[in-house]
Order: sequence, then C-alpha cells, then structure tokens
Amino acid sequence: MSSSNLQISGLGKRYGDFVALAPTHLDVARGEFLTLLGPSGSGKTTLLSLIAGLARPDEGRVLIDGADVTYGAPYERDIGMVFQNYALFPHMTIEENIAFPLKMRKVPAAEARRRAMDALEMVRLPHVAARLPRELSGGQQQRIALARCMVYRPAIILMDEPLGALDKKLRDQMQLEIKRIHRELGTTIVYVTHDQEEAMTMSDRICLMNGGAIEQLGTPADLYFRPRTLFVADFLGESNLLRGEVASVDGDMLSVRLERHGITGPALSNGAPIKAGQKVTLMLRPQNLRVREAGDGGPLLTGKLLDVMVTGSLTKLYLDTGAADAAPIVVAYPTRRHADHYAIGQSLSVGWQAADAVAIPE
Ligand SMILES: Nc1ncnc2c1ncn2[C@@H]1O[C@H](COP(=O)(O)OP(=O)(O)O)[C@@H](O)[C@H]1O
Ligand SMILES: [Mg+2]
Repeated sequence: MSSSNLQISGLGKRYGDFVALAPTHLDVARGEFLTLLGPSGSGKTTLLSLIAGLARPDEGRVLIDGADVTYGAPYERDIGMVFQNYALFPHMTIEENIAFPLKMRKVPAAEARRRAMDALEMVRLPHVAARLPRELSGGQQQRIALARCMVYRPAIILMDEPLGALDKKLRDQMQLEIKRIHRELGTTIVYVTHDQEEAMTMSDRICLMNGGAIEQLGTPADLYFRPRTLFVADFLGESNLLRGEVASVDGDMLSVRLERHGITGPALSNGAPIKAGQKVTLMLRPQNLRVREAGDGGPLLTGKLLDVMVTGSLTKLYLDTGAADAAPIVVAYPTRRHADHYAIGQSLSVGWQAADAVAIPE
C-alpha cells in the first residue's frame, strides 16, 4: 500500500479537438497541501473537476486510497469542495446550511447540530449560527462554505480559487485560517489559484500548470530556486532573465558568458544536464543583486539608473545596461529609513554570487 491518498494516472480531457488537459500523472500524499497554480486557461479547474467527478475524462484514472473512482459519481467520492462563489442556501440559517450535508447523509438531528456548531467553532464564527447568509460579509460567507465542507470530514478537500472574490487583507487572513484548519484536521487539500504568492505561502508542493500540462511539480522552494523552464522562472516571483552561453562547467557550478553585457559570471545549474557551449538564460532574482563599487571585484553589470521605486517594504532600482533589446535590470532591497541617495541617470554597478544565479538551458 502506498501513502498516496489521491493518484492520477494518464488523466486527460479534450473538448472537441482542444486538449484542456494532456495525459497527466500526479500523486498526492495523505495530509498534503498541494496547489495547482497556473495562468487562466491552463487546465486547473479541468483537473479539479475530473478529481471531483464533475467531468468525465477521455483517458486515464483517478484513484482514491487505491480505489478506482474514475467514473464514479461525485457523492461516491470522499471529497469536499469549496468554490469561489460560496453558494450558501439563502433561506437557511447558517447552522442549517452547515448541517445540510449531514442531513443528506442521514446523521441524526442532535448530532448534526453538535457537529455544525463544532465546525462553526473551527472557523471562529460560533455567534452567527442563527443568522441568514445575507447577514454575513463575503469573508464570513466564505468561512461558512469552508465549515459546510469540513462538517462531514471528507478525506480530501478541493478548493477552486476560494479566496478570489475577497480583498487582499481578508485574503491574507483567510490563507492563515485555511492553513490552520489544514494543520488541525490533517485533511488532504488540493487547492487551485492563479496567484503565485498565495501558492508559495500555503503549499507543501506546487503543481505549476501551463497549456493543459504540468510544467513543474515540487516544493515552493524547488520552483522558486531551481526552475526547470523559463516559464517557471518567469511565473514565480520577479526575475531578471539574461541570455548567455556556458563557458565552463564544474559539477553544479557554471561560468556563464553574458553576450550582450560582455561579462562572464558564476551560476548554478538548475539540475538539468549541461555542457560548455550550451545556450542558457541566467535567472537573477532582484533581491540577490547587490549594488557594488567598481573595483569590488567579481562580475559587475553596469547601467544607468532609470528609476527608483519604493513599493512599501521593498525599494527597487531599474538599470538600463544599454544592451540591445534587453529589459532593464531590477534590483530590490528592504526599504530603509535613511534612503540611499541615488540620482536618476547616475551609473551603478551590481554584482551577484553563484548561489544567486540559476542557469536554465534553452
Ligand atoms: N466545457 C468546456 N468546453 C470547451 N472548452 C472548455 C470547457 N471547459 C474548459 N474549456 C477550456 O479548457 C481550457 C482550460 O480551462 P480551465 O481548466 O477552466 O482553466 P483554468 O481553471 O486553469 O483557468 C480553457 O482554454 C477553457 O476555455
Ligand atoms: Mg479555473
């Protein structure tokens, strides 16, 4: 017996000629928080619907605890679902809304009531039991939808952009709430979002999707620090992407020549096999670049300061290196009380270390 709770093997879905999900393999461990991340239209909802049994695949299998449920009805799966539009019953009280799935499962009324109250405690809203949905805020309604899903203790909870309708502050709070509930209940969660920060904050692993296929699957750190493709490097966090050629290889350590900038600098491989002479793109995260004095030694990218932006906790510098059709270099560091006095138009040099640069083969 494996420890995976949910196994997806060769699962695929087409609409006519259009491939919404190419044959996909994915194992989700019991108690794992896995996030499907990707741009709009990348197949996230399609995959979730196939897991839930709301759509039929053209090929492949869905196994829950080893049992094949590919063609079973949604209610035959031990799965709960939370969507962006929480869809509470408007004429039922909050308590009745939450107890509804239990009533459907023929749980005796007294026990259903007790469990509904427990679920309300879990989402920290015990005082709203007697209210109607319209008497709650959007954030509170989303918590009730979560409580209604948890009340029958499904082994797996699927969430499709559940916080998409909430404003940023509330979304941040709800992210923490969902994480806390996940810790307390130990439920397996498959979570969908197109927001990379949300995925990074919440997930044990991220499954990054692109064009109906998995682009990369791994921990948030795997994807952030060792992106396998440019798509991944670009999708997660801000990065400077510079084209170059591998000058030499020493295990994981590379020396990369940046043609357009006329310098050679250190980098790490992203895990893919690599040879001298190969074309690569160097990924440099803005916060890993340091302003240096000429004469500091090491490779330096030099450019004219185009702009300085204070974006709250981070200050960002934009440098024009003069390289043909290259985007400005972005440098970021924590905003300090005593601001640096850089003048727009002045020349600045930035440097980096091998550990801060990842080479992605073309
Ligand atoms: N019922 C459908 N009929 C035709 N095309 C669909 C249908 N459902 C989804 N698609 C298409 O499949 C692709 C993936 O959709 P979806 O899984 O909803 O993406 P995501 O949730 O990542 O935004 C999209 O291009 C979408 O237009
Ligand atoms: Mg979707």
